[in-house]
Amino acid sequence: LIDQTKLPAELITIKVKTVQQLREAIVSLKVRGAPLLGAAGAYGCALAAFGSTFDDPEMLLEELDLAGDSLRSARPTAVNLSWGVRRALSAAKGHNSVHAIREAVLEEAKRIAEEDVAINRTIGRLGSRLIESGDRILTHCNAGRLACVDYGTALGVIRSAVEEGKKVSVYACETRPLFQGSRLTSWELSEDGIPVTLICDSASGLLMRRGMVDKVIVGADRITRDAVFNKVGTYTHAVLARAHKIPFYVAAPISTFDLEHVEREVKIEERDPDEVRRAGDLTISPPFVRAYNPAFDATPMELVTAIITEEGIFRPPEMPRVL
Ligand code: MRU
Repeated sequence: LIDQTKLPAELITIKVKTVQQLREAIVSLKVRGAPLLGAAGAYGCALAAFGSTFDDPEMLLEELDLAGDSLRSARPTAVNLSWGVRRALSAAKGHNSVHAIREAVLEEAKRIAEEDVAINRTIGRLGSRLIESGDRILTHCNAGRLACVDYGTALGVIRSAVEEGKKVSVYACETRPLFQGSRLTSWELSEDGIPVTLICDSASGLLMRRGMVDKVIVGADRITRDAVFNKVGTYTHAVLARAHKIPFYVAAPISTFDLEHVEREVKIEERDPDEVRRAGDLTISPPFVRAYNPAFDATPMELVTAIITEEGIFRPPEMPRVL
């Protein structure tokens, strides 16, 4: 895995050999982003399968269930994590040897990873139809290749538009408290030579009011029938976009949809208040001041212009069919 906490200073990879190590990597955001968490969850089940000492298939399946629960609980809002675990665990069922279970889980994890890249390219190709040459696009957090196995969802749309020869530029919101926008999105886009300007999260209103933003495109961690869950701050941009009549697009794979739940039933992950009291290693508040740190927010569907998926572009309340 690329250790995303080290970017942009260092591009280093880490080896994760156990479910516990992977869980720690997920909790600490070394590996992050909804689609990537889907693949990581499935590979985590493969780690559990190959690391198990059971030679009885039934016992191994029980151990895999426990590993799955442990991985799923690492990030409760990002639905792709449980989706990836669920796919790997269903692939494990129905085999009568430990060897066959291991191979089936690993194959499923590889399949998820391969599918993810193809899905993102389709999202990019479909979504780029919404982009015109000259567009200045605002994005929040990182929904790029780092957040996926490759290519990205929201940034995939931008990449596709650029590949088609459209001239676009991006405003990357820094994304407090953990700076996925400044550390990851601005790095990723700069690496690709796509013009990017970093702004404070709170500058988006000013830019929109001054006519400097043509479109907003973000990723998602979970999409219910009534709301899009994404990195905290997304909702603010959506309200501002509506106030300034700017289209607000969400790019996400079908695996991010959770049409069985509604907004109020979804748990929003709350993280360590120290992430707010600090910026990197620097303490930027009185050390014991109370701080509240929700990692995501919910944007009501009324504010979403369209959701770009690999199955097409949906204009709410229209939703894809999700099995
Ligand atoms: O806490 P993070 O960094 O995992 O949050 C990620 C986001 O909010 C992304 O926008 C989302 O996962 C979509 S990634 C294609």
